[in-house]
Amino acid sequence: MAEDNSNPKDPNKGKRRSSDWYGKMDKDGWAHRSWMKNRGIPADMFDGRPVIGICNTWSEFNPCNAHFRDIAERVKRGVYEAGGMPVEFPVFSTSESQLRPTAMLYRNLASMDVEEAIRGLPMDGVVLLVGCDKTTPSLMMGAASCDLPTITVSGGPMLNGHYRGELVGSGTHVWKFSEMVRAGEMTLQEFMDAEQDNSRSTGHCMTMGTASTMASMVESLGAGLPHNAAIPAPDSRRNVLAQMAGRRIVEMVRQDIRLSDVLKRENFENAIMVNGAIGGSTNAVVHLLAIAGRMGIDITLDDWDRLGRDVPCLLNLMPSGDYLMEDFFYAGGLPAIIRELGDFIHKDAMTVNGKTLWENSKDAECWNRDVIFPVDKPFKPNGGIAVLRGNLAPDGAIIKPSAASPELMKHRGRAVVFETIEDYKAKIDDPDLDIDESCIMVLKNCGPKGYPGMAEVGNMGLPPKVLKKGIKDMIRISDARMSGTAYGTVILHSAPEAAAGGPLAFVQNGDMIEVDVEARRMHLDISDAELEKRRAAWTGFDSPYDRGYSKLYVEHVQQADKGADLDFLVGKSGTPIMRESH
Ligand code: FES
Ligand code: MG
Repeated sequence: MAEDNSNPKDPNKGKRRSSDWYGKMDKDGWAHRSWMKNRGIPADMFDGRPVIGICNTWSEFNPCNAHFRDIAERVKRGVYEAGGMPVEFPVFSTSESQLRPTAMLYRNLASMDVEEAIRGLPMDGVVLLVGCDKTTPSLMMGAASCDLPTITVSGGPMLNGHYRGELVGSGTHVWKFSEMVRAGEMTLQEFMDAEQDNSRSTGHCMTMGTASTMASMVESLGAGLPHNAAIPAPDSRRNVLAQMAGRRIVEMVRQDIRLSDVLKRENFENAIMVNGAIGGSTNAVVHLLAIAGRMGIDITLDDWDRLGRDVPCLLNLMPSGDYLMEDFFYAGGLPAIIRELGDFIHKDAMTVNGKTLWENSKDAECWNRDVIFPVDKPFKPNGGIAVLRGNLAPDGAIIKPSAASPELMKHRGRAVVFETIEDYKAKIDDPDLDIDESCIMVLKNCGPKGYPGMAEVGNMGLPPKVLKKGIKDMIRISDARMSGTAYGTVILHSAPEAAAGGPLAFVQNGDMIEVDVEARRMHLDISDAELEKRRAAWTGFDSPYDRGYSKLYVEHVQQADKGADLDFLVGKSGTPIMRESH
């Protein structure tokens, strides 16, 4: 007997959307079903049961997601068990470690791939398989535009890295070791030896970099199941979580629980506070702004600053601390953090498993207080992202205080300017470069339009002559992003960017810059008249990209304070389709 697939919430909305393909007794229905049957699918699978799309970012060019065929099989088991029909489909896998000029350039393209695939194909609900940094926001942005019942499943972090008795964290130790080589503290051979030790299992970066941060955002938003953030990729419980997601998405379709029924403003506010508590990546700022933008929820940089102000950092993980994601899981995982946060969060925010975030977390135990600190005795007092403004960044710039040096949080220094990333690379090792540790390094033209794609180059390595003094940190300012695995007093996402005519473009060598994180201020100490004179003399930015997606991107990308989405993708869209295919 065919499943009753009428809409329980609104009978006037009619049947499930897949029945508009598979429920038709005409030539179109015949075509939609018949070609699917070439895979050996029995006729009764087209009886109106929920069709679940499994949106897979598997790719061998994206090692973080290379185990996703197995995860997809686990999701399918769950879908079958619950009486649904799973259909796996591929989308563009934006690989942080392989893709040039930066995976971020393609986050929006991948989101369009996801959106159009979900809209154009006969699915009633979707499970998003995500892992590497940009795969999480791109799939969530695309799915948010469509607003079907949706569960996000992260692929999990790699196991801890080890090198000569020391924990090695993805990314964090690339920066650390490469600075040690430049300072003469590590040989090139030792550096090469550590390569394999960094990557010893399936999974994504196992520091609290952007991938682990975004997996934590998925869980704290309520868009994924409890423990989505921290179960290591090779742990059998990751497969169980995937299977449970498969079961649950079928229920969500039957109950017509859409992404917008789960994700409200409170969910985003919870995620922002959790980001502070875990010492999460600065990249979460642009990604959450972009996801909220697709849902028509007005989250701004001011929300980030306001909500993050009082949130302490509870998690002792690299890059801000000592441990790695595997340790985080054994210590209790994200539910233990959420339980600690207690009254900070909106306890009644809903999640995809039908329970509130608090119901999912209130009994979570902490098993290691050296990894997860209590809220009244936190790992670091300031967890949140601080938003700085001033004549140098009228629309805002951000800094992660928990990864910065306390003594540089209020500082006045002489600007050493790099016009492009190539300019920086050409000059930084020059012993004659006029720079010392009191200077402020300024990097231009690495924002959304300028790079293009707002690359992770804001954490510029220090000049060797400073490193050789044993100094590990200087203030750096740019319109770029930085890897979530990086650290330092790094001011990022300056908006508007230099290539869009933002004041960053007008900074010159020798200008004095004042930074005061407590006062949320970043000031270029020149007169307004001088700033206007330089603006008038600015010759503009010539993008070398004159065709294809890159051209489209440069013409339509919004600034970092808006989440760097393409302007024509923002806002609610849904899944209307105008016509049949034949
Ligand atoms: Fe994929 Fe870090 S390179 S998560
Ligand atoms: Mg990264």
